[in-house]
Amino acid sequence: MDFSEQIKRRRTFAIISHPDAGKTTLTEKFLLYGGAIASAGSVKGKQSDKHAVSDWMDLEKQRGISITSSVLQFEYDGYCINILDTPGHQDFSEDTYRTLMAADSAVMVIDAAKGIEPQTRKLFKVCAMRDIPIFTFINKMDREARDPFDLLDELEHEFGIGTYPMNWPIGCGQNFRGVYDRDSHKIISFGDSHRGRERISGIDCDIHDTEKLDSLIGERLRTELCEQVELLDGASFDFDLEAVRHGKLSPVFFGSALNNFGVESFLVQFLKMTTSPLPRKAGSAVVAPFDDKFSAFVFKNQANTNKQHRDRIAFMRICSGRFDRNKDYYHVQGDKTARLSQPQQMMASEREVIDEAFAGDIIGVFDPGIFSIGDTVCEKGSKLKFEGIPVFAPEHFAMVEQVDSMKRKQFAKGMNQIAQEGAIQIFFEPNSGLERVIVGVVGVLQFEVLEYRIKNEYGCDLRRTDLAYQQIRWIKDKTLDPKTLKLSHDTKWVQDFRGNNLLIFTSEWAIRWVLEDNPGLELLEFNKDDKNDQ
Ligand code: G4P
Repeated sequence: MDFSEQIKRRRTFAIISHPDAGKTTLTEKFLLYGGAIASAGSVKGKQSDKHAVSDWMDLEKQRGISITSSVLQFEYDGYCINILDTPGHQDFSEDTYRTLMAADSAVMVIDAAKGIEPQTRKLFKVCAMRDIPIFTFINKMDREARDPFDLLDELEHEFGIGTYPMNWPIGCGQNFRGVYDRDSHKIISFGDSHRGRERISGIDCDIHDTEKLDSLIGERLRTELCEQVELLDGASFDFDLEAVRHGKLSPVFFGSALNNFGVESFLVQFLKMTTSPLPRKAGSAVVAPFDDKFSAFVFKNQANTNKQHRDRIAFMRICSGRFDRNKDYYHVQGDKTARLSQPQQMMASEREVIDEAFAGDIIGVFDPGIFSIGDTVCEKGSKLKFEGIPVFAPEHFAMVEQVDSMKRKQFAKGMNQIAQEGAIQIFFEPNSGLERVIVGVVGVLQFEVLEYRIKNEYGCDLRRTDLAYQQIRWIKDKTLDPKTLKLSHDTKWVQDFRGNNLLIFTSEWAIRWVLEDNPGLELLEFNKDDKNDQ
């Protein structure tokens, strides 16, 4: 297969949902169709205590939540698919945002009984920030569900996007009889015999074939369906692929991941509608995926994914060209030539070392501590720099101190590494030592992860004291001596690891008071240096 065909057949998407909506089950069924796993339950099954391949960390297993994102690749019908799993918990939306930077589209899984849930809302906002196409899978139709019109209404009103139901459910729960496919005008029926089966081949039936329909779904559901379809055809948005590709119209599918119902048809239609890898901006340049020069950016750093090896992996999205294992590349931010060693991809539960990869693919490479989130890697001689990934301002702060002074080195190393991964941000009180730092996080669960990892990966105990601060601002004037500022007790002066001065506050009010008390003082919400594009 030639180079451009390889790229054309790639599809790279993220999968998002509120916990428990069925993201893992759906992913597992995709892998099943792709032949990447042999049976359901290999990705995750709570009873068998097997967990999603994405659940790398023990803590994730204990909590039953997916904290960090992972990447899976599989083949289906000639397509090469990269799925980016996203953390389900709201405290990790920053990680999700970075992951979405690496995706070309997103699949949003919604529980039909619950509709939009808090985390769906947050994740959607993150998708909307990038205008990425969103495909909706309304799951669990085999259970009691909300009215489908209500669900669409909710999506349209809460998210301000159009929806286009690709299929329409016939009943729900015990009365779920299947879906009507709006494109082929056919019924794909779901019967009790289907429950739990691995693959369903639906019985096609024309919606106008009253007799056959009645025998399949009964007269009542048939009448209801015909009315609803008429209403849909008259009132819903027209299908517009361009609007879909700009994130303005979401194709909606109804189904049941657990029963494999509607999953394969979703996959088939989704793959047709979504695009092959899209061009990416690098300053004023636009990098085309088919450009034969390799380029990629780091969107995630993860330490200690493998306990035996104590390694650190930088995940990068290839934006153009072809990656070759035996070649040296250029790490732009480090201004150094880099051999990307142990390049690997995740295949179901296996990691595989790869020799080549193409635009659209995600590869993980061994990181000796040189890569930061947002960094660009490209062909030697090229000086591309992809747009940075914004850093979210922390909203929770805690004082973290090491308990055992003999372990000062490990503590500092652990804190620095975890901060470099972007999981936490660390700040220092001026003139204090490294054994005491102020940690800022976007979600409080990140504190727990920090404690757990410092203990388990670096062997140190720590003492954490939560602080009441909620806001952070950088002092714009780098020459200003913060000691000259008038600060109230609810404001604290700290420094980041580059020595920049910043203030943390307990409330928006406190920010206003400081500005009033210190005429001429200018504060910034983001420090330009701290965006990952330095
Ligand atoms: P998540 O990754 O979004 O958190 O959700 P996950 O796939 O783990 O699914 C959450 C629960 O919902 C699981 O049940 C799963 O079996 C169930 N589920 C997923 N899709 C469907 C569906 O189409 N219909 C029905 N009825 N249930 C569905 P669990 O009991 O929490 O876990 P498990 O013991 O089945 O693993």
